[in-house]
Formats: sequence, structure tokens, C-alpha cells
Amino acid sequence: MSETALITGASRGIGLETARRLLHHSEEITTLVLFARASADFDAAVEQLRASSPVGRRVIARTVDVGDRDALHAALESVHQEVGTIDHLVNNAGYTNPVPLQQAEIEDFERTMAVNVYAPFLIVKWLLNRGNRFKMIVNIASTAGIKGRSGWLTYSASKAAVINMSQVMREELAIYDTRVVCLSPGRTATVLRRTLAPEEDPSTIMQPEHVARVIETLTSPIGRFIDSENIVVRK
Ligand SMILES: NC(=O)c1ccc[n+]([C@@H]2O[C@H](COP(=O)([O-])OP(=O)(O)OC[C@H]3O[C@@H](n4cnc5c(N)ncnc54)[C@H](OP(=O)(O)O)[C@@H]3O)[C@@H](O)[C@H]2O)c1
Repeated sequence: MSETALITGASRGIGLETARRLLHHSEEITTLVLFARASADFDAAVEQLRASSPVGRRVIARTVDVGDRDALHAALESVHQEVGTIDHLVNNAGYTNPVPLQQAEIEDFERTMAVNVYAPFLIVKWLLNRGNRFKMIVNIASTAGIKGRSGWLTYSASKAAVINMSQVMREELAIYDTRVVCLSPGRTATVLRRTLAPEEDPSTIMQPEHVARVIETLTSPIGRFIDSENIVVRK
């Protein structure tokens, strides 16, 4: 088997841990394609992954703001040329700017939707239209998308949309035998979580590798026995 996985938001947190797990533990996935914006963190992460990569495995990186449609399409085009079919897609990149309702700016709401909702939609649609048939799509939502939280209006609303969009994808893509899984993590110790809950002690909550291990299981052959529209992972 030599399958390919595309992970968005792979410079740190859950996305980077997922890349590590798949690189070192997946028997099927031999090519990893990683998306994040340009940063020293992303460069360092890619370098470290390549240095530790088992023989015969490839790590391909693209610096792209997934909230920028033209840039996203250009990145997809170049990846499509280089690797062909994407078998596994992990729509993980996420953005939040938690503020009370009265202070929420429409531009920021639009930015949140562009990164959290429109990007996963555009990636799936673009690749489908190029004839890509996915084995599986994992959309990372959040428990905040199941129950809205005070101060998190834009983020909660975007994640509720991810849960619903995943249900539609799951139904529509069943004809291609594509498994669509929506994964809703609870509190996980990452930069994004620190933005949402600055006072919290990160050692008391889930770590990114815990979520990554669940994603790894979903992409493995055993994953097809896990049948859930919205898998909640929380401590
Ligand atoms: N941590 C939690 O408690 C928690 C709970 C539920 C759900 N989630 C979800 O889990 C996912 C991963 O988040 P995380 O907690 O691992 O946070 P994180 O450590 O802050 O990572 C977020 C990732 O998304 C990328 N990203 C953000 N905006 C982007 C953009 N415009 N274009 C490309 N990449 C972008 C970041 O890369 P760059 O900034 O380098 O581009 C980074 O790699 C998100 O969808 C988040 O909503 C997290």
C-alpha cells in the first residue's frame, strides 16, 4: 500500500502530532502533504519530520493561508500535479478570536468561517472536481460546535457548521465509498486552546497526541469499523 494523506494546520498542535503519528505508525500512508502558513515553526516541524522519516516515506509541505481562496487553489493544483490522488484528508486548520457578541466584528466572523468552514469545503470540492476519490475525510470540529459557549460565538457557530457539513459530505460521498468522519475534540493543550482559555493549566487537559492517536486509528484499516458521524474525544 502507498497511500497519501493531506493534513491542514500541520505546523503545531493536533495537526503536527497527527503528521508524526501517521509518518511513524501508519502502515498504509507513505506520503504526507502538510499545509500551514509560512513560519519558522512550520519550517522546523517539516525539517524534524523529514529527518526522522522512515525509509520510503515522503513529507511534502506547502505554505498556504487556507482562508485565501486563490492561494488555496494554487496549493491544491501544485499538490495534485506532484502527488496525484489524496486518499486521506484531515481538515484540521482552525482559527478563533473569542470576544463577547457586542465586540465581534463581521470581518473576523468571515475570517473564522473562511478558515474553519469554507476551506474544508473548497478542498473537498476542488479535489472531487479533479477526479480525486478519497478513502476518508476527517473534519475536525469541536465540542464547542455541539453546545455554544459564551464569548465564543464565531468559533462555536463555525464548528456547528463543520458538524453539519460533515453529515452532508458523508451522505453525498458514500457513492464513492468515502468515509467522512467528524471529530470533535474537547479541551486540548495547544496554542488555540490558550487563546480560548488563557488561565487554564495545560497539564490538566488532553494533549494533542491523544487526539492524533484517535485520528491515526480512524485512518488505519480498523478505522472502518468505527461508524460515527461526530466522534467526541475528551477527557
Ligand atoms: N485545542 C483544543 O482545545 C481544540 C478543541 C476542539 C477543536 N479543536 C480544533 O482542532 C484543530 C487544530 O487546532 P489546535 O488546537 O491543534 O490549534 P493550534 O496548535 O493553534 O494549531 C492550529 C493549526 O492551524 C493552522 N492554521 C490556522 N490558521 C490557518 C490558516 N489561515 N491557513 C493555514 N493554516 C492555518 C496553524 O498553522 P499556522 O498558524 O502556522 O498557519 C496551526 O498549524 C482546529 O480546527 C481547532 O479548532 C481544538
